[in-house]
Amino acid sequence: MNLSRRTLLASAAATPLLTGAGVALGAGEAAASPATLRAALDYGNSKLKAVAPGITSFPEITRAEKWTYVADGGWVGGFWPGTLWLAHLDSGDAQFRALAEAACDRLAPRRLDPRDHDLGFLFYPSWITAYRLTGATKWRDGAVEAANTLIQRWNATGEFIRAWGRIGTPGNAGRVIIDTMMNLDLLAFATEQTGDRKFLDIAIAHARTTQTHFLRPDGSTPHVFDFDPDTGAAVGPNTVQGYSPTSSWSRGQAWGIYGFTTMYRRTGLREFRDTARRMADYALSVLTPDGVPVWDYRSPLGPNDVKDSSAGAIMACGLLDLAKATGTDRYRERALKILDGLVGTCLTTRSSRAEAILARGTRNRPAEDGVEVSLPYGDYYLYEAILRVLKPAQIARAIGL
Ligand code: GLY
Repeated sequence: MNLSRRTLLASAAATPLLTGAGVALGAGEAAASPATLRAALDYGNSKLKAVAPGITSFPEITRAEKWTYVADGGWVGGFWPGTLWLAHLDSGDAQFRALAEAACDRLAPRRLDPRDHDLGFLFYPSWITAYRLTGATKWRDGAVEAANTLIQRWNATGEFIRAWGRIGTPGNAGRVIIDTMMNLDLLAFATEQTGDRKFLDIAIAHARTTQTHFLRPDGSTPHVFDFDPDTGAAVGPNTVQGYSPTSSWSRGQAWGIYGFTTMYRRTGLREFRDTARRMADYALSVLTPDGVPVWDYRSPLGPNDVKDSSAGAIMACGLLDLAKATGTDRYRERALKILDGLVGTCLTTRSSRAEAILARGTRNRPAEDGVEVSLPYGDYYLYEAILRVLKPAQIARAIGL
């Protein structure tokens, strides 16, 4: 297994990507150029064209470069239709649209399932994008139903959305995670569509609870913060997917940058923009020069530990948005450097076996569950980030920027 991981890494890193002009580009040359990014999307579109027609479930993670699946979508089921929608947006290919719609249909039961907080991950890139691109109201109405499901997890005493555990059960009842910041835009959408403030009010209150308790003075965050579910009293930081309660799991940090910037865009509340900025400044201060985040910025191996390319893709999206929100070119420049690192060292270009687009992801390092893998959110946010650069008006229409 180690050998195959190393082989994969060497393949990805050694493979030049041909630009539209036929120029070979490698890693670390500069901020990604439009031609480099165009070539990456062309590669993604051709990979999807070959792989997607054979997929009838939800890709969850690769094993030896092949997708493995989660039948009900798990927490990741929105990213596969989301990637197909973005491939359709980029290419105009009707087959991608048909496959995206079929994948969205398979998610339908989850809109009424309150098992966890992941309803934004599930329904934003899939059904909300479907509605924005097609105008078909069944996607909008289903997304509003999903928002109604999500707010069942609201703890009014502690002012937080419970991340994990069935409602009415004690396990994880007071557990909040940084990832939930990404589920709040579903609530903003529901308020936008229905005129009912309650969804956005819950999103704002949850974001405030998160920024009060997760943010350390240096802008880093833990993965988890626990509260007493009955009194709402703070218990303290914790982690599941990061190295420790005092570390900074890079994907969680990226979820926060993206999520707080989105909350600023939806509300105009500058406190959220400032929080996003603090989180971004921390991540950028510890990001390695190759632009690809290590899985946890404070793991003992520090900058030499394994990477999580998905964290880079998510962070690039957040930084591009933050650049606009703050009028700060530096965030855009750093996003383009990250994209250069991802495209130069993490694509699966050399492998004809590989079914995904982006390699070098890490799902859950402490559990030794998915290291040097491809992840559907890596592919999705790579598409989103590149489209934010190359086709800003189109991606704005698709995801409501
Ligand atoms: N939301 C779960 C993860 O980022 O792994």
